Amino acid sequence: MTDAVLRPHAEQAFAAELALLAEHDERPRPPGWKLSPRAVTTYLLGGELPGGAEITPKYIGPRRLMEVAVATLATDRALLLLGVPGTAKTWVAEHLAAAVSGDSTLLVQGTAGTAEEAVRYGWNYARLLAEGPSTAALVESPLVRAMRRGAVARVEELTRMPTDVQDTLITILSEKTLPVPELNTEVQARRGFTVIATANDRDRGVNELSSALRRRFNTVVLPLPETAEAEVEIVARRVGQLGAALELPEAPAGLAEIRRVVTVFRELRSGTSADGRTKLKTPSGTLSTAEAISVVTGGLALAAHFGDGVLRPADVAAGIVGAVVQDPSADAVAWQEYLETVVRERPEWNDFYRACRDLS
Ligand SMILES: Nc1ncnc2c1ncn2[C@@H]1O[C@H](COP(=O)(O)OP(=O)(O)OP(=O)(O)O)[C@@H](O)[C@H]1O
Ligand SMILES: [Mg+2]
Repeated sequence: MTDAVLRPHAEQAFAAELALLAEHDERPRPPGWKLSPRAVTTYLLGGELPGGAEITPKYIGPRRLMEVAVATLATDRALLLLGVPGTAKTWVAEHLAAAVSGDSTLLVQGTAGTAEEAVRYGWNYARLLAEGPSTAALVESPLVRAMRRGAVARVEELTRMPTDVQDTLITILSEKTLPVPELNTEVQARRGFTVIATANDRDRGVNELSSALRRRFNTVVLPLPETAEAEVEIVARRVGQLGAALELPEAPAGLAEIRRVVTVFRELRSGTSADGRTKLKTPSGTLSTAEAISVVTGGLALAAHFGDGVLRPADVAAGIVGAVVQDPSADAVAWQEYLETVVRERPEWNDFYRACRDLS
């Protein structure tokens, strides 16, 4: 049934792994949880089960961070995943919800236009006018549904929501209840209910997270990959999965090409060449791991459909330049400088240099 779905939810895509983990899980599960905290961590970080079955890693990074995140969910505090763009905050939140509750779809997307109704409840106006306030006329938010079911609710981009809307969460998180004064009643959360929110470091200025709300969250900061090797592994793994999902014709994802994309991004992000010798201008874009994944996936599509099936420098060049040059003046200067002082000096990058030159 999910065959034709463009992007299945984590609990669908990894249903087999989740079932295996549940089968081998002998540790105690917190109330409302589908798996023990230990099994949730194995689901996230990957590992081998007693029968020899393999669980693929979803998150690649420090184990301790995931342990802290999972342990937080087992307490009465909510979890806030914080980090620069593209550090897998959304990805980790989805997989956590899938592993803990078996459902990652109870989601509220934070935007500047998010209204209180999206966090609490709204009304079906036709019914409201016909019948007056009634339970049947109430339209519950995903958060309220999570409270009723004792499941994980997700709030994406928390700090993009106006502060007063954010504050609606305070009662829910501290009292675990939501009053519905119109019906003279309340919704009390069942055990297992908790919230995973994500927020972007760079958005901090948009709307501050109120300190009252911040105190209700345990914050876990997701870092950029520490080493180039780790970042290459993340990109290679995700590109493989995405390529399979998009049914791109078999095109071997050349590891050398992936390594080059990652190197370019890391050098420009940090403002120095890998050998530490050349100082570089940093472009305005984030050049995150997520963007490296898009560049390589785009390159694979080019190679598969228009090339000879092998990922070549020309297939990634346009994607790289597109990611780097966001602002046509300053970024273009930074890129030209990088091209001439770093790329050009590397003999083994000759064909890549030419592919980039041909673009301008
Ligand atoms: N450490 C990592 N381990 C596994 N996958 C990663 C890692 N870092 C990034 N990714 C991949 O990057 C992609 C983008 O991640 P995601 O959308 O979750 O980022 P985000 O932190 O929510 O970004 P934004 O702030 O823009 O919303 C995902 O496909 C994810 O698999
Ligand atoms: Mg996100």
